[in-house]
Amino acid sequence: MLEGRDIISINDFNKKEIEAVLDKSEEMEDILREKKCMETMKGKILANLFFEPSTRTRLSFSSAMHRLGGNVISLEKIKTSSMAKGESLTDTIRMVDKYSDLIVIRHPDEYSAKMAAGVAENPVINGGDGANQHPTQALIDLCSIRKFKGKIENLNVTLLGDLKHARVIKSLAYGLAIFKANITLVSPAGLELENKTVDELKSNFGITVSQTNDICSGIKNADVLYVCRMQKERFKDLQEAGEMQNTYRITPELLEQGKDSLIVMHALPKVGEIDHRVDQTKFAKYFEEAAFGVPVRMAVISLVVVG
Ligand code: NCD
Repeated sequence: MLEGRDIISINDFNKKEIEAVLDKSEEMEDILREKKCMETMKGKILANLFFEPSTRTRLSFSSAMHRLGGNVISLEKIKTSSMAKGESLTDTIRMVDKYSDLIVIRHPDEYSAKMAAGVAENPVINGGDGANQHPTQALIDLCSIRKFKGKIENLNVTLLGDLKHARVIKSLAYGLAIFKANITLVSPAGLELENKTVDELKSNFGITVSQTNDICSGIKNADVLYVCRMQKERFKDLQEAGEMQNTYRITPELLEQGKDSLIVMHALPKVGEIDHRVDQTKFAKYFEEAAFGVPVRMAVISLVVVG
């Protein structure tokens, strides 16, 4: 179904394909639990190209490839590559494509992954292109919601934080729309999700999207509260990012005002927008969500490379 495909945006998937990834990821979870060795990717090489900081995406892609029996090569800094000598990203991709069977790229430029896919013969997976998209994170988020809630359809999902710059929000919003969840957007003034995206969510998918600046009303009827940090690296004015950082802070007291079954998710890293006391509560699901990174990426890699 996904064999040979590039994974650039969550919009590259239809509902059936997302469900196929989530089902495959459950199979991968069973294999991980049983500590079985896999040979699905034996002799294959994944190239991890990360031109922006990353812990979870980079390491979980590596871990997933190793668990599948394959190998990983990586480029983590421009300054240790020939790009420091002025080589273009395009030429770099052209070469790495010949050294590997699959490329994962994270880069600050929007559409860098699309460009890479246009140059590479092997599949390219977008590990985050600027403020644009992070499709495998959305798959992890959808997998987590399905696990914790048993379904995605008709849930009330509140997306909260710097919705303007967070690629995880943009990708997840479209993913939720595919499953007809109801979305509430909560952000500080000036950091709203762009109108184009909101309009597309409503008109192309026919879902309810409401917007507010008030956290309490955003939490009240939510089944899932998805929080994201201020994306400081995408602000022109760092001082403004610092000021915004303290606008919203999720506390256990605040969460007690929501549904008893409310869950809190976050792609991580969290850097102060969630009070650390929340970690100890029944609401916190973000560490489990992060752990799904390995089986979901195992599913994506194997579906893309071997079908
Ligand atoms: C996110 C990212 O890089 O977009 N992190 C991740 O991949 N888990 C979220 C973020 O950095 O805020």
